[in-house]
Amino acid sequence: MKKTILPSRLDNLISVLNPVDIFIDVGSDHGYASSYVLENQLAKRVIATDIHALPAQRTSNYLKQQGFSDYSQVLCVDGLSSIRVRKSDAVLIAGMGGYEIIHILTDALDGNSIELGATFLLQPQRSFRELRSFLADRGFEIRDERIARDKDKYYVGILAVYNGRAYQTDIISAVLGPVIISERPCYFELFMKDRLETLKKEVLGQPELCPVLEYVEKVIQSL
Ligand SMILES: C[S@@+](CC[C@H](N)C(=O)[O-])C[C@H]1O[C@@H](n2cnc3c(N)ncnc32)[C@H](O)[C@@H]1O
Repeated sequence: MKKTILPSRLDNLISVLNPVDIFIDVGSDHGYASSYVLENQLAKRVIATDIHALPAQRTSNYLKQQGFSDYSQVLCVDGLSSIRVRKSDAVLIAGMGGYEIIHILTDALDGNSIELGATFLLQPQRSFRELRSFLADRGFEIRDERIARDKDKYYVGILAVYNGRAYQTDIISAVLGPVIISERPCYFELFMKDRLETLKKEVLGQPELCPVLEYVEKVIQSL
């Protein structure tokens, strides 16, 4: 078996995961993340889901090729449909928009299918502010955040644990990330400079982002 190499954005996010019972890979596409966690003993079993038949089949083929057919189940469904997420499990939802992630989590919460204590690895491509506000409203505690760099693009990954206790967030934390602000992880400086350029454009249409822009400018001056 040839070992699976993940793109740095996924490698970086999965590196924060402690071993779990079931790893649930939502939007598995090629199945690389699913195979990677089994190859590295980060889960006993994997459930991979994809809303489209072709990627679901691709995932199934890859897991078979890697010798993991007996340890995995591949479903062609929307998000977490028909899956119960236990406290000993972790869910990866990466490479989709923040609103799609919110839709998947909302459906699962509405179906009462997430146990308190379950872990979530989330990597939205956009709409961080909306996703972090949703996490706060619905009681997903953000425990870790990492920045990855891939071909001059920055990716932020969030590790959140569902405890059902809603909390307040402010616009600076929602846009930039509470752990990114407090812990300043690897690539922090480059990420802030990248955000600065984007925020300068975004404030033109969203004046409520002015405090975030001012915050980023101050941080950069102090580095
Ligand atoms: C860009 S790929 C990302 C694949 C992988 N998660 C990654 O980060 O590299 C997005 C995948 O998510 C699937 N997808 C999109 N919305 C979904 C949903 N609601 N439920 C399950 N899969 C979904 C797409 O079919 C596609 O295969």
